[in-house]
Amino acid sequence: MPLARSLSVTSLSGLEDWDEEFDLENAVLFEIAWEVANKVGGIYTVIQTKARLTAEEWGENYFLVGPYVESNVRTQVELIEPTNPELKRTIDKMNSSGCKVYFGRWLIEGSPYVVLIDVAFTAWSLDRWKSELWDLCDIGVPWFDREANDAVLFGFLTAWLLGEYAAQSEEPPHVVAHFHEWLAGLGLVLCRHRQLPVATIFTTHATLLGRYLCAGNVDFYNNLAEFNLDKEAGDRQIYHRYCLERAAAHCAHVFTTVSQITAIEAEHLLKRKPDIVTPNGLNVKKFSAVHEFQNLHAQSKNRIQEFIRGHFYGHLDFNLDKCLFLFIAGRYEFSNKGADIFLEALARLNYLLRVNHSDVTVIAFFIMPARTNNFNVETLKGQAVRKQLWDTAHTVKERFGKKLYESLLVGQLPDVSKMLDKEDFTIMKRAIFATQRQCQPPICTHNMLEDSSDPILNCVRRIGLFNSSADRVKIIFHPEFLSSTSPLLPMDYEEFVRGCHLGVFPSYYEPWGYTPAECTVMGIPSVSTNLSGFGCFMEEHIADPSAYGTFLYICYTFNCLNMQHFTSYLLSTGIYILDRRRQRIIQRNRTERLSDLLDWRYLGRYYTAARHMALAKAFPDTYIYEPQEPTSTTGFRYPRPASVPPSPALSRHSSPHHSEAEDNDDEDERYDEDLEAEKDRVNIRQPYTPPLKNKSPGNSNGITRS
Ligand code: UDP
Ligand code: G6P
Ligand code: GLC
Repeated sequence: MPLARSLSVTSLSGLEDWDEEFDLENAVLFEIAWEVANKVGGIYTVIQTKARLTAEEWGENYFLVGPYVESNVRTQVELIEPTNPELKRTIDKMNSSGCKVYFGRWLIEGSPYVVLIDVAFTAWSLDRWKSELWDLCDIGVPWFDREANDAVLFGFLTAWLLGEYAAQSEEPPHVVAHFHEWLAGLGLVLCRHRQLPVATIFTTHATLLGRYLCAGNVDFYNNLAEFNLDKEAGDRQIYHRYCLERAAAHCAHVFTTVSQITAIEAEHLLKRKPDIVTPNGLNVKKFSAVHEFQNLHAQSKNRIQEFIRGHFYGHLDFNLDKCLFLFIAGRYEFSNKGADIFLEALARLNYLLRVNHSDVTVIAFFIMPARTNNFNVETLKGQAVRKQLWDTAHTVKERFGKKLYESLLVGQLPDVSKMLDKEDFTIMKRAIFATQRQCQPPICTHNMLEDSSDPILNCVRRIGLFNSSADRVKIIFHPEFLSSTSPLLPMDYEEFVRGCHLGVFPSYYEPWGYTPAECTVMGIPSVSTNLSGFGCFMEEHIADPSAYGTFLYICYTFNCLNMQHFTSYLLSTGIYILDRRRQRIIQRNRTERLSDLLDWRYLGRYYTAARHMALAKAFPDTYIYEPQEPTSTTGFRYPRPASVPPSPALSRHSSPHHSEAEDNDDEDERYDEDLEAEKDRVNIRQPYTPPLKNKSPGNSNGITRS
């Protein structure tokens, strides 16, 4: 089935005129998600990055509702007395009836209010609520499904909160309740069943069945219309979850999802077409100095290089200045996230770099959380050895400096041959001996609990990429999200991304995919596929995404990602371009220029539209929503950069080659960079420019859809 782009609800123009007409004075917004102040994956990023804009729009009338998780609250939330009298009465009433509900400010940009519900505290009601759910809609939740049990508790408690709040006064404010994902969806179903005066929105960030089917090697996109949904859900033991999700989608006044590709999926798998697509944005920070993000790249890269020095101690036989850092990150779904295809491509890349005697070394990081028993000894030792070498160098330097100083004090130039004595050499030799190593540098930084069945490790074993000296591609698997307090790689994720050269996200199933979007706003090029929501979004709105560092791997057939193709794609676009420092600098500049397109200031309008739509449906006497008719000029496309893109189409190499001079001439780089930025700024820095009617002729990478 061709993936038609008929659901063109993400057009980026046409929504400007109506939003001023809504008077939100007597309206209150509750946004409910399991990932409020609780980091699991991308939904946390949606809620957290959007908070500032939504808080600006709704002021004191915006409340996020999530689960109470003590460790999160301790680090992220300031608990305070409820500011809103009705909400205070509601919370007091619930707390006096055996619940534990907290109120606070989430310490993120926008400082939104949060209502946090301790679901475990009310677990004594679980059986009663489950049987109520069964009587109400024949959904039976098995006792062993802990996540679904939490969903039942959270659902009943949020519906209780909203019901209590809406019953506060004769004329309650107009309440909008926006529920995210199936885990929060039951609250919505109960609101509708109890006929609460609440305008409801349900946003799905993926469909349960879609995620499960894709992970199971199914030819998903070609069979969307064919699946026997109940059977498929039953076979995977997620029938009850699926029912909760589908019920929420159908009960909502407004149903939304994050991308067009997921809208099509939802239409088939949940049997409701989304009313509007609400693409995910980011809170884009702009630096006043044009080069600031380039400097940040250089700083972060230095820190990654330090880590590499430790990790590869005893085997540092490659030139760190000619190292390219690639990475993949996100929830650990081996094939859905494309870790499988990335590894296969790396194996082929290794072969090609070796046969071409390339002096480039590619280091590929896999940042995907798995079950572990903390860092392994060999990895920690690497950093300790590096530190020891540093300390030794420092000690010898001090001793050297002292001798030099003493010599200058007596008015003599030092005798260089005597500056290092026997003891200095002994210290240094001892330090060098300590760097000897019997094993190869480890692939994995942690002790894996399921080492023998881990898909990444098993694939590495099969393709034989063991970080040996001869390999030009090295692999580091960090099965935990990054943190600035880590003893191993003390960087947070954002810093790490900034220091890399290319993010690689060849997802097979990806409703949106924040990771490549985050790369874009930080000016780091990335590879993604047209099976991801983000990839489709960029394909739709940019005439030539690769010219801006969004390398789109277009899947010819929608049934599989082709390894061979992907490798040559990675080689011909990403690696080719990334082999030249000057090109990399230019590419980063271009990439960063797209960040306006991904800013919530811009994309937030779809959320606003969804809320207005819901208000108009729930309270038709007060609100009217008139959708804009799509016009022939609906949507816009970014033009290609005016300056010549560093396109591999101009010259194809099977292996990267370039001259030393290119890498060393920093002055030239800066000049070119500025000149190029100046040329492009005229055309690009205006996201609201009139739409381009004609698509520019073809992708520079020469790949077209068959
Ligand atoms: N992420 C993170 N720390 C890491 C790696 C990833 O916080 O070390 C975040 C990343 O910033 C992104 C999210 O994890 O916002 C992953 O979201 P995405 O939408 O790409 O995929 P999901 O994991 O939700 O399927
Ligand atoms: C930034 C810095 C440059 C540095 C470059 C390294 O652009 O401003 O001074 O040369 O990073 O780039 P690379 O792609 O080699 O890491
Ligand atoms: C889900 C999807 C991911 C998306 C995120 C935020 O976790 O898997 O693709 O980016 O939600 O919408």
